[in-house]
Amino acid sequence: MTPKTFRIKSFGCQMNVYDGERMAELLAAEGMAAAIDGSDADLVVLNTCHIREKAAEKAYSDVGRLRREDGSKPLIALAGCVAQAEGGEAMRRSPMIDLVVGPQAYHRLPAMVREAMRGARPVDTDMPAISKFDDFPTRRRANPSAFLTVQEGCDKFCTYCVVPYTRGAEISRPFGDIVAEAHALVDAGAKEIVLLGQNVNAWEDEGRGLAELIRALARIDGLHRIRYTTSHPADMTDALIKAHGEVGKLMPYLHLPVQSGSNRILKAMNRSHTAETYLAIIEKIRAARPDIALSGDFIVGFPGETDGDFEATLRIVDAVGYSGAYSFKYSARPGTPAAAMEDQIPRELMDERLQRLQKRINAHQLAFNRLKLGLDTQILIERHGKHPGQMIGKSPWLQSVHVETDARPGEIVDVTLVAAGPNSVTGALRRKAAA
Ligand code: SAH
Ligand code: SF4
Ligand code: F3S
Repeated sequence: MTPKTFRIKSFGCQMNVYDGERMAELLAAEGMAAAIDGSDADLVVLNTCHIREKAAEKAYSDVGRLRREDGSKPLIALAGCVAQAEGGEAMRRSPMIDLVVGPQAYHRLPAMVREAMRGARPVDTDMPAISKFDDFPTRRRANPSAFLTVQEGCDKFCTYCVVPYTRGAEISRPFGDIVAEAHALVDAGAKEIVLLGQNVNAWEDEGRGLAELIRALARIDGLHRIRYTTSHPADMTDALIKAHGEVGKLMPYLHLPVQSGSNRILKAMNRSHTAETYLAIIEKIRAARPDIALSGDFIVGFPGETDGDFEATLRIVDAVGYSGAYSFKYSARPGTPAAAMEDQIPRELMDERLQRLQKRINAHQLAFNRLKLGLDTQILIERHGKHPGQMIGKSPWLQSVHVETDARPGEIVDVTLVAAGPNSVTGALRRKAAA
């Protein structure tokens, strides 16, 4: 016997979103249907994230909230990075959890659901050599902008980060499998593919790197746009930079986290770059693709961060002129080297630094959006906006663009960018382009 309906709740990064889609396809292939009203689902999969503090606590309180008013509960699967980190301990902490499945074991989810229905409480956090991807069904549904995981895991061991422990060592999916999945996504309606990996630019297969993969995907008819995320500066090869100047379908946007502008902090973080080597990479990328939009990630309040270190972070923000960036307060993660470092920074100081950093980033974001005013460009329509007739899509530079049009999601429209706010821009329709 299997449950009739399921709901998957994904938290964290885009790779979790992708995994959630693949788990949904696996469950659908077993004859289960996505629950229309989520609260009624027979099976709930919590696809969790462990990157920052209280993630595990949040997961357990989410589990608790799944109890229904009549005291009954759905079958509960704990998945994602909290599942990987906690393993069987999760079962001891919450008797409501029926199964625990780590990110490398998702192909076993249907079998584990059946075991759980028989009263067992299976746990699988193995990281097998055989890839889970081989057992996923062919893609038959796709968003206009579709995710495609090509690489998983991380060997970089930044001293603050749990990902090398929750996602394991860097592995690349085979070239042929990725190309086949890209074709399936385009056949299912995708106009844009976003290649995903915790270190996506470390992807390699038999001497081919990400640049070759992108060039191969660019030859797929019907695929209009290619992006990739997240990249590490250490793997930003000349071949990849060159592709930005030569492959028209590769969008002018790059997410390249730097984390800090202080070389002392970067060293303590075990980042392999300095502020100077990072800026040198940025310079090369801008030479290849002058209009590229750059984004990044920052951590404030890493142990030992002085006012001077923080000022260096503000300086690198100004030096790059990001089109947007994510910034986080340092969060000590159990088991990581940084959690045991001296000079942990008080919360109030972190709050203050985060506010100052975000203000600076927002100013650059607004400046970037204003810089594009008056430009004629193309928008990939993704969804309906708040107002009737309003649609929201993405510019090549990944700006959110609001536009009045009767075009449907998946269509590409020609617009002029006519107004800019910090978080979005407004486009005025010119004429409908071929989708
Ligand atoms: N592989 C990517 C991103 C992984 S996690 C990279 O190396 O850039 C996404 C972001 O979360 C990181 O870039 C970092 O800015 C942030 N992050 C990771 N661990 C953190 C921690 N312990 N505290 C605060 N932010 C963290
Ligand atoms: Fe974490 Fe560093 Fe790996 Fe990124 S590169 S996933 S921050 S260890
Ligand atoms: Fe979170 Fe795991 Fe992604 S910890 S950010 S869900 S790799």
